[in-house]
Amino acid sequence: MIESLTIRRPDDWHLHFRDGDIMRGVVPYTARQFARAIVMPNLTPPVTTTALAAEYRDRIRAAVPQDMRFEPLMTCYLTDTTDPDDLARGAGAGVFTAAKLYPAYATTNSSSGVTNVELIYPVLERMEQDDIVLCIHGEVTDHDIDVFDREAEFIDRHLNAIVATFPNLRVVFEHITTSDAVEFVKAASDKVGATITPQHLHINRNAMLVGGIQPHNYCLPVAKRETHRLALRAAATSSDPAIARKFFLGTDSAPHMRGDKESACGCAGIFGAPVALESYLTVFEEEGAIDRFEAFASLNGPAFYKMPVNQETVTLERIEAPVPEELPLVGETIVPWHAGQVLNWKFVG
Ligand code: NCD
Ligand code: ZN
Repeated sequence: MIESLTIRRPDDWHLHFRDGDIMRGVVPYTARQFARAIVMPNLTPPVTTTALAAEYRDRIRAAVPQDMRFEPLMTCYLTDTTDPDDLARGAGAGVFTAAKLYPAYATTNSSSGVTNVELIYPVLERMEQDDIVLCIHGEVTDHDIDVFDREAEFIDRHLNAIVATFPNLRVVFEHITTSDAVEFVKAASDKVGATITPQHLHINRNAMLVGGIQPHNYCLPVAKRETHRLALRAAATSSDPAIARKFFLGTDSAPHMRGDKESACGCAGIFGAPVALESYLTVFEEEGAIDRFEAFASLNGPAFYKMPVNQETVTLERIEAPVPEELPLVGETIVPWHAGQVLNWKFVG
């Protein structure tokens, strides 16, 4: 049994920081574990232009504690009226690392999202030309589609068409939750990758709905049935490098204050940042795949995004680590992922 694991410093390829005091409160949790993170643009108002992204990046950089080295990677929130020239300029200037497609009303702060994917085909064409990565929240929003089927339906209705129409566009299918998504990504070209969250590797939908409603296990896309969870674990930890390399770490850490989760209309999102690496490593250990953890956490993402891997290392030790029931944040409290549980691994720096 190994007692300690040292890997190249990882990156988080899907993350929500919010803004203002909450952002300043949560940035240190991510900056202590990760070198870089793809920062989601679903603020109110959303980060839709190069200018807004550059300002937001400055605010995040200012929130990174002095003793930590961390670089936020910004994304452009696509709308029906995104200006391809501004996006291309922002990407060329190094402000934007990717652009994010939220179908309108799919999730938290997505009301300005895209109402019909075909409306942004001119933008996708420009992104393909300029090799700008497209991150996709892959769920349809049609009211007639069951919430548990929305990801699979998105593949059929939109994703197949996007990758067929833009074969050279790099696409990240974000926070995948189904075996359908795993199969889609496996069958797709090398231009298509996917992020997987810790929660979707740990829980199925029972964790949300059995024994009373469990708001802290609610996020979007919602956790699905057990067969899907097992497919995600198999993909992330695959011993076939041709499969494993398409999947990489993206926590989708999405902070909402305790009261906003424990509410008659509770917010979607799980605050995974405080124990992100410990949570993922637990899964890799359970799958007998600790030796494949570094690729998932620290190598596959940079390769997909065409960025250098990090030179520093981080270490996790086998230490029983109780996770607090809640953490203080902006004078209130927030419930972290794995609250009240004891993890077997601890990030030590
Ligand atoms: C995210 C959030 O709160 O911003 N929520 C979530 O459940 N994952 C949005 C998102 O990524 O869907
Ligand atoms: Zn997200």
